[in-house]
Formats: sequence, C-alpha cells, structure tokens
Amino acid sequence: MPDTITITDNRTGKSYEIPIEYGTYPEYGAYIAGTELRKIKVSDDDFGLLSYDPAYMNTASCKSAITFIDGDKGILRYRGIPIEQLAEQSTYLETAFLILYGHLPSQSELDEWTHEITMHTLIHENMRKFMDGFHYDAHPMGMLVGTVAALSTFYSESRDIGDPENRKRQIIRLIAKVPTIAAFAYRKSIGRHYVYPENDFSYAGNFLNMMFRMTEREYRPNPVLEKALDVLFILHADHEQNCSASAMRNVGSSHADPYVSVAAATAALWGPLHGGANEQVLRMLREIGDRKKVGDYIKRVKAGEFRLMGFGHRVYKNYDPRARILKKMADDVLEVTGKSPLLDLAMDLEKIALEDDYFVSRKLYPNVDFYSGIIYQAMGFPIDMFPVLFGIARTAGWLAQWQEMLEDKDQKITRPRQVYIGEDERQYVKMARR
Ligand code: CMC
Repeated sequence: MPDTITITDNRTGKSYEIPIEYGTYPEYGAYIAGTELRKIKVSDDDFGLLSYDPAYMNTASCKSAITFIDGDKGILRYRGIPIEQLAEQSTYLETAFLILYGHLPSQSELDEWTHEITMHTLIHENMRKFMDGFHYDAHPMGMLVGTVAALSTFYSESRDIGDPENRKRQIIRLIAKVPTIAAFAYRKSIGRHYVYPENDFSYAGNFLNMMFRMTEREYRPNPVLEKALDVLFILHADHEQNCSASAMRNVGSSHADPYVSVAAATAALWGPLHGGANEQVLRMLREIGDRKKVGDYIKRVKAGEFRLMGFGHRVYKNYDPRARILKKMADDVLEVTGKSPLLDLAMDLEKIALEDDYFVSRKLYPNVDFYSGIIYQAMGFPIDMFPVLFGIARTAGWLAQWQEMLEDKDQKITRPRQVYIGEDERQYVKMARR
C-alpha cells in the first residue's frame, strides 16, 4: 500500500488522496508532486490550488544525485562521499570528475581528464583583447561574468546541448579556461602583464602562477598554499540547489548554451548574500579592526543594524562542515604566510557569537565564507578576487547541475506560477482626465 496524504477541501467537502514519494533518505526526501494540488478545485474552470513558496523555502525544484546536505547535522557529501574525506584525500580535478560523472575516476580516466583540462587552459587572443577593453577599475567578478558569456561567441557549436560528447567538450573548456580568465581579470585590474597558463603545474599551481608570477625565471608555488587552494576549490565545488545553481538550471532550462548559463550563475554568485559574503567578511573584520570592539559590533548586529557576515545559512542550522575544515587549514596557511590579526579577531567574534542567545536561538553558525576570506587574504589574494575564487571552484558544480537537468526527463523550461494581487480589470484614463 503506497504512502499517501489525504487533503480535505472544506470549500467543497471533497477529499483528495495524494501519493507521498521519497528520495534516498525518507526523513529528508518525502515529497508530494506540486502538480497534484492542481486537482483541488472548487469548479471545473478553477485553475486549481497553487502552493505559495517565495524563495523556494520548501520546494524541491529537481531530483538530484550530486550533493547531499544534512543542515541540522552539518553533513556535506558529493556523490555520497563525505567532504572531509575529499578535502583530505582527493584533488579538485578528481572531485570535479566525481561531481560531474558520478564516480571516482580510474587512474586512466583521471589522467585523460587532467590532460584534457590542462590542454584547454589557453584562451583565444581575441578574448584577451576583449578583456583589455574593460575599464581600469572594473571588478574582476564583472569581468569574469562578461568574459565567460563572451566565450559563447567563440564556440557556437556549444549550442548543441543535446549531444553528450559536445557537452563534455564545453565542460572541459569551461573548467580549463575560467581560472585563466579569472587570473587575467586580476592582472588587468592591477595593470600587470598577463601570465599565460603553463602545463607543468597542477590546476591550483597553474592558477597561482598566472596570478602571482612576476619576472622570476622560474615560478614555484609554495606547496602548502597550492594544496590549501586545491582544498578550497574542493570545498566550494558544489552545494546543491543554492541561488547560483538554481540560476544555472533556470537559464540552462531554456537550452541556452553552457557559457551564458555559467555567466548567469556567476552573476548570481556575486551577490553579498551568496558568494560575495567572503569579501564582506573581510571588510567587516577590517571595520571592527580591534579585538576590544568585537562586543560592541555584536550588539549592533543584534539590534538589527546589519548582519554578521559569514554567519548563518539557509540550509546549515549547525556548524558548516566546510568552515570546520577551513578553520583548521587556516593554521597551516598562516604558518607559511605569517600570523593574521584578522584571524584572532574572527576567533573572538565566533566565540562570542556561539555563546550568545541571539545566534544560538536562531541556529546561526559560521559558514564557509567566515574563514575562506582570511585564508585567501593571507595567500595574497585581494578582496575583490574572493568571489572569483569561489566561481572557479563552483564551475564544476554548476556544470554538473546543468548536465543533470538536461538529462532529467521530468525537467522542462523553468516557469514558476504567481499569485496575482494587482488590480481587477479597469479602464484606461486619458491624460487630461487623470
Ligand atoms: N547576522 C545576524 N542575524 C542573522 C544572520 C546574520 N548573519 N543571518 C540570519 N540572521 C537572523 C535574521 O535576521 C533572522 O532573524 P529574525 O528571525 O529575528 O528576523 C533569522 O536569523 C533568520 O534569518 P533569515 O534571513 O530568515 O535566514 P535565511 O535562511 O533566509 O538567510 C543567509 C540565510 C545566508 C542569507 C543569512 O544567514 C545571511 O544573510 N548571512 C550573512 C551572509 C552570508 O554569510 N552569506 C554566505 C552564505 S554561505 C555561502 C553560500 O553558500 O553562498
């Protein structure tokens, strides 16, 4: 006997039996199909009952096998594998493969994948010239959004989104070229020459080379920082149906090509409530400036003047597992780069907030952005680049979400309903009579 829920409409006295279905975990994935509610009507010409859910607080927009989060317990897994194991044992490129194709690659699959990505890191010289056209003080995130969208004009075959082989080619290109564009955006913003990708480096090492190489004959990234950046990329690789992943799926659902879809997702990421938060955390810590001022700052947050950036999450109502990994990693990085007073400030802030009833009762804990900004800053990345770093890592996740959406027979072009609350029909009034 299947599980069902019975809804009685007291407008008509009719009862409706709606099947309950489940995902992998019944306690997290019990759902009814929203369209079942449409059967609940007062008359034949009634459209049927809608569910009203602004910000999708309780709406599953898709079925997904990519990422699992248990926000109450602070669990994050990609394709079933705990984030802690991936951070410790995997690499970003291996994790990207896992997220995109559902299994850990064999050695030969990983070699081929790494080779393909390494061989696609260069961008067309016209793209470089395109980037030259940005204003001298353009935000690198704006440059990333614009330039990734412009890639679409170089790869017109990418519009053939139904062909899995063609999709794979674009996926490889995007994962390969986004770091190049990101590094060029940074170099452009500080008026320094572009450094072209080099095939001898790892994914993270190549990015550090393109970012920071000056005139030295041979650039060697510090292995601790290279590893830390790779772990940061792993931690940011996917996070199920967040704002930018939903943007990717929404735009992709119209069968737009992957470049413009990734550009849209990147734009969504930029906002301070999403990927822009790490940038805001640093600005906040600088504004506080002194450990003595932490208590006062918390008072102002509680009075509703502003939010404590890097705290709180729509899904995690416990310590974000990524923040836990980063808090530990911050020590390794700071050992190489030198101590940061901002880390001490952040620790004080965290300690006070975690004991304060305002934060405890609302289940507000540090999220990934609370510590990532401090690490990025210690590694020498300017604040403007923080959301860009997030975007590099999340490209694999967006593409995995996009591919899953295209292969899902349940999906169509995204088109939510609305509840109209405006005027009833009324007549146009001529200007002279208004
Ligand atoms: N500081 C102070 N109060 C907060 C905060 C915060 N950071 N976050 C939430 N609250 C309060 C909020 O005022 C509300 O209180 P009340 O019930 O009295 O009105 C309550 O907590 C619930 O907040 P909400 O806005 O309903 O929660 P949400 O799930 O809609 O928002 C959030 C989630 C991440 C947008 C929010 O916590 C926030 O703005 N955090 C700061 C920005 C931030 O760090 N964002 C990065 C998120 S992690 C990276 C990513 O995945 O993008």
